[in-house]
Amino acid sequence: MNEALTVSLLPPAIRPYALTLPAQARAEQKSQQPRCLWLTGLSGAGKSTLANALELHLHQFGLHTFLLDGDNLRAGLCRDLGMTETCRRENIRRTAEVARLIVDAGLIVIVAAISPFRAERDTARRLFAEGDFIEVHVSTSLEVCARRDPKGLYRAARGGRIKDFTGIDSPYEAPLDAECRIDTDEVGLADACHRLAAFLLKK
Ligand code: ADX
Repeated sequence: MNEALTVSLLPPAIRPYALTLPAQARAEQKSQQPRCLWLTGLSGAGKSTLANALELHLHQFGLHTFLLDGDNLRAGLCRDLGMTETCRRENIRRTAEVARLIVDAGLIVIVAAISPFRAERDTARRLFAEGDFIEVHVSTSLEVCARRDPKGLYRAARGGRIKDFTGIDSPYEAPLDAECRIDTDEVGLADACHRLAAFLLKK
């Protein structure tokens, strides 16, 4: 990807078309309130595991969901992006825009991505109506994540074989006021999942 690329302004010749069917109608047909649950945290924190368990739980509850996982998006939509700061900003921008479309389709979308920068997460939040974006900090410590090292990436990063690795030689900006915080070293999967589901259903 061109490192200089910044996508911010709407091109002057583009006029968004107002869709005839309002987003609310799609949601009402599904008898649910669409939301975006955004899981952020270090690699190995347990975001994907938690997101998968939560999606299954919500599905069994009769809710209509979709899961956007960072690794999966990077295998397709974002396969042109690397791990530099510029690429990660673009990765999160695309992820947020897709999440927003999924919410407009009437679904509850769960995002699991490191999404290391506060500014991009805040920009993502602004795409949604007040209260529809729920930031979940999967706050498992760097020490625990590096000990788990499920993909051997921390070892590779410490050995200099991977560059720009979050928490090692690339920053992670923890949320200051996330709606939820879950340390998967302290809270079991079922408990964490129930906590998030309860939070979602209470809202
Ligand atoms: S993000 O920072 O742009 O949000 P994202 O969640 O999409 O990252 O992708 C992170 C995944 O890419 C990790 O789960 C890990 O498997 C893999 N990965 C490969 N290189 C790196 C790296 N340098 N830093 C972090 N994760 C990496």
